[in-house]
Amino acid sequence: MVVGCQWGDEGKGKIVDVLAADAQIVARYQGGANAGHTVHVGDDEFILHQIPSGVLHDGKRCLLGNGVVLDVRQFFDEYDALAARGIRLDGRVGVSGRAHVLLPFHRALDKAREAAAAEKIGTTGRGIGPAYEDKVGRRGLRVGDLADAAGVERWLDGALTRAEAQLRELGEDVDTVAAETRDALGLAARLHALSTEVGVEILEGLRAGRDVLLEGAQGALLDLDQGTYPFVTSSNTTAAGAPVGVGIGPTAVDDVLGVLKAYTTRVGEGPLPTAMTPELDEQVRQWGGEFGATTGRPRRCGWFDAVVARHAARVNGLTGLAITKLDVLDQLPEIQIAVGYRVDGEETSHFPDAGCGYDAIEPVYETVPGWKASTADARKLEDLPRAARAYLSRLQELVGVPIWMVSVGTRRSDIIRV
Ligand code: IMP
Repeated sequence: MVVGCQWGDEGKGKIVDVLAADAQIVARYQGGANAGHTVHVGDDEFILHQIPSGVLHDGKRCLLGNGVVLDVRQFFDEYDALAARGIRLDGRVGVSGRAHVLLPFHRALDKAREAAAAEKIGTTGRGIGPAYEDKVGRRGLRVGDLADAAGVERWLDGALTRAEAQLRELGEDVDTVAAETRDALGLAARLHALSTEVGVEILEGLRAGRDVLLEGAQGALLDLDQGTYPFVTSSNTTAAGAPVGVGIGPTAVDDVLGVLKAYTTRVGEGPLPTAMTPELDEQVRQWGGEFGATTGRPRRCGWFDAVVARHAARVNGLTGLAITKLDVLDQLPEIQIAVGYRVDGEETSHFPDAGCGYDAIEPVYETVPGWKASTADARKLEDLPRAARAYLSRLQELVGVPIWMVSVGTRRSDIIRV
């Protein structure tokens, strides 16, 4: 399993792409088209929102589990765009019959609520919250339901009536919502044709000796329960959400690889305790290309936060770490690491819940020397400058989980396996 351990955008897409070379099945277990997994293959860049990052390896089976909210239009836009770029998909993509279908009215509601909210979450506007609300409210539409056209029509009447009433209440125009939703449902038969028993496929694959990769989206601090609530997404991004989200038990999982950027970023509203000064924030954003893959929004940049990383290690039960974008720090003369927090004058090594107010968090920093040299060509730890190795050792010590991989660039080959 590969999970994000900060606020998303840790570089999971690249790590999954690298590991997918050795797996036969790759499955997404939560989230939807809010994800933006960027993968570079040679000179080509692919940004995947809804289809697992493993799709770029020929022949791998790519599954979307029941925990995903499946944006039917985005899914096929992406599917067709990949096919047009020469990726062979026939027979390779399967979706759970239990996955919930996300439709244009969910997106409209998400955007309208954000526009009207006094305290904004800064969502991606992809309809994620409203789709999960329908799921938990037991009024959702699942992929398996799409076989019954008359049933879908009955469901649609109720869903549109509810959505239009809410949109009107929020002062929105509802003219196009029904037509767009019906248009998206025109893809229902095509989607239903891909439905499969995801949990059964995974367990049968494991029994036959195949390797399976579960691909997380977003990060631990965006987890509905373990993150910086209410500035979170609407699913369980952490490891425990994965078995639930694909329909297997937790005992089937061997390893949980946590992906951490060598620094921290956040897009959307909510606390980022280790935020850098405005000048450094701008500099690191440019070096790291820190702009949202889904929305293009600039990401805020901060120092590595060991409190966040330890929290993520605990709630995910991590067995290994992948540290990404080490190369982005190459030019800094010195680097800060938050080793703890002070909250209302008291030192703590745990991530607080909102009780204290996230604004009360003051990071306790340790300053370490930078390496002022390129790490881009390093392929083993010994190739790295001494200060870069010391930085990685310190991160490993603070998180208490061994580093298995270090990424030093965007291409598949820019990786150190430890
Ligand atoms: P939602 O998931 O669109 O509802 O957005 C909720 C919060 O999660 C917002 O702060 C988003 O910016 C953030 N978010 C959602 N998906 C991602 C992602 O893939 N990377 C980074 N942030 C994300």
